[in-house]
Amino acid sequence: SSILVLNGPNLGRLGSREPDVYGDQDLPALEALLNAEAPEGTTIDLRQTDDEGTLIGWLHEAVDSGAPVILNPAAFTHYSYGLRDAASLVTKAGGTLIEVHISNPHAREEFRHNSVISGVATGVIAGFGFESYVLALSAILRVRA
Ligand code: DQA
Repeated sequence: SSILVLNGPNLGRLGSREPDVYGDQDLPALEALLNAEAPEGTTIDLRQTDDEGTLIGWLHEAVDSGAPVILNPAAFTHYSYGLRDAASLVTKAGGTLIEVHISNPHAREEFRHNSVISGVATGVIAGFGFESYVLALSAILRVRA
């Protein structure tokens, strides 16, 4: 089975983007970390886009396939009702969608304190660096076990 790990805008710049906030590891390093943590038979399908429509399309794909989703919506977290509605389709269909953040948005600027995604997510994990994704993977495996 496959787990979708979807990353929103500017996360393709990880490694060089604000390393004091997001660390110095890049997206391929995240993919390697998750692959190392995934049990045999579980495929990590990690993707990144700066485009809202593409991200929404990937969530539609998850609705159709039933694949669990780990989603870092990045800045879309704070204002994309289109993405929220797509995330809602996933969980209303009985799918699992975990919202993750590398940083703890609540400890940062005011505009990051609100997530329009959290209310339709299965759960939220934030503030643990790349380990936020590993914790989300662990949650998916435990919930489905
Ligand atoms: C982020 C937090 C968001 O506020 C920000 O816009 C990002 C990354 C995180 O992983 O900490 O791009 O989602």
